[in-house]
Amino acid sequence: MYRIAVIGGDGIGPEVVQEGLKVLEATAARTGVKYELEHYDLGGDRYLRTGEELPDSVLEELRGFDAIYLGAVGHPEVAPGILEKNLLLRIRFELDQYINLRPVKLYPGVETPLANKGPDEIDFVVVRENTEGLYSGMGGIQYKGTPQEVSTQVHMTTRFGAERAIRYAFDLCRKRNRDKKLLLCAKTNVLTYVHDTWFRAFHEVGEADYPDIERDYAHVDATTMWMVKNPEWFDVIVTENMFGDIITDLGAMIQGGLGVAAGGNINPNGVSMFEPIGGSAPKYTGQNVVCPIAAISAVQMMMETLGEEETSARIEGAVERALASGKIKSLAAGRMGMSTSEVGDLIAGYAGE
Ligand code: IPM
Ligand code: MN
Repeated sequence: MYRIAVIGGDGIGPEVVQEGLKVLEATAARTGVKYELEHYDLGGDRYLRTGEELPDSVLEELRGFDAIYLGAVGHPEVAPGILEKNLLLRIRFELDQYINLRPVKLYPGVETPLANKGPDEIDFVVVRENTEGLYSGMGGIQYKGTPQEVSTQVHMTTRFGAERAIRYAFDLCRKRNRDKKLLLCAKTNVLTYVHDTWFRAFHEVGEADYPDIERDYAHVDATTMWMVKNPEWFDVIVTENMFGDIITDLGAMIQGGLGVAAGGNINPNGVSMFEPIGGSAPKYTGQNVVCPIAAISAVQMMMETLGEEETSARIEGAVERALASGKIKSLAAGRMGMSTSEVGDLIAGYAGE
């Protein structure tokens, strides 16, 4: 019996999470996976009502689940940074979800903005380090509002943090057994301290423990170029937190948009959290018009991570079938030709067949 914490969160989060849970229910009825849900009221509305982003007691409870399912965080009436830092990033950091796993996979039937590229060319995974770098929160601001204002934001990097992300990426690359090629994406020509740590860790670990995996390197700017021009060159990319954030939005676009891009915040020895990587999209809230597939794929990643391969495969198969069916006109919000819940029904129907 899996215990899953559900945080619908802000904006369209609750709507898409509902569809993910619908598909889980239909699939579990077939595969026999047993789970129970606990819903948490967290996000901008709760913060505006009570001043709380994530009470310590709730954080402690979250540690006791098998997985967390998150919709979205971000509220137009809450200043930027408050919910992000004190809710989303706090969960990632406190639960030591040190990997942010973001597959970039173009399914058949999905339109990509890249000319002459299809599902054979767009199928790679980004392993984003998820607890360090510019996200560490170290730094500060002094003499604020004066001409002498000075601010710093420290790119905190540890050998330990870089190495565990790199090892995870090598293991994943071996498991995928595709091109067996791991690319480090960094900026060693400018970030000559922090990315030197990454670079040496990458090659030392690779040479010692992963001789079967080819190692490649690209600066982040070049990586974005190749993602557009030659996405077929990538198998697994490992990168630091901020670069991973940026390149996975580009990744989402080439795989068909934020409506289909899912991610997992993984602690391989603890509690992981799964989410669609798009935001709360406040302007579409409550309209039943956004694509729920990213949220459904997040459930699929959750089942895969829990070791429920049959359930995961069934959900992915249902998503693929829905996307190839031609029934969903577009994945853009408001242009699907179907509602959010109808897309959920379609996929739940296939998954439960
Ligand atoms: C993401 C988001 C978050 C991030 C924000 C909301 C803090 O953009 O999950 O990619 O930067 O990690
Ligand atoms: Mn992001």
